[in-house]
Amino acid sequence: MDILRYTDSAAIRKAIAAIENPREIRVLFVCLGNICRSPAAEGLMLDVLARHADTARWVIDSAGTGNYHVGDLPDSRMRAHARRRGIELTHRCRQVHESDFFDFDIIIGMDHSNLSRLRAIAPSVEAEGKILPMAAFFGAYSRFDHVPDPYYDGAEGFETVLDILTEATENLYDTITAHLPDAQS
Ligand code: 4NP
Repeated sequence: MDILRYTDSAAIRKAIAAIENPREIRVLFVCLGNICRSPAAEGLMLDVLARHADTARWVIDSAGTGNYHVGDLPDSRMRAHARRRGIELTHRCRQVHESDFFDFDIIIGMDHSNLSRLRAIAPSVEAEGKILPMAAFFGAYSRFDHVPDPYYDGAEGFETVLDILTEATENLYDTITAHLPDAQS
């Protein structure tokens, strides 16, 4: 846990403590277009869960604050870079909606703009508490404070995003499972 940047963050602990049903942990990743960063985060998180033999109790999805690519598969460049790491990205793009605050426990924004858009559509103060920055789960020595948008970058940008998200999704898994509320019978 000490590798996390915001290990003591009350916001993280509060969001995890508010998970409604620890037998069904629902996590939504959000970026702008929902064709690069958030579907990659979704695919990498599913890979983390598979490696931990812990898929059954999780619901993982992604969405975009924008609606430019609704219905599309992830960007072909992101799919190609992810495939080289053994990750197939099959998500279909959708726009984030106020109802996602009822359907998910934790909503993770990739950058500052995504986070402020999410805060603007959160239906209540409690719902706003579900929003966390992906950067909260970066390693302590990361040079980033957000997941940079690779859309206008070359191959290096996609590789950087995948490196960042590989570490962040593993840390996210460790953090949530370490602080999960006890299951109610
Ligand atoms: P993403 O990247 O937010 O990581 O999916 C982008 C994809 C598309 C656009 C912007 C960012 N766009 O402007 O179409």
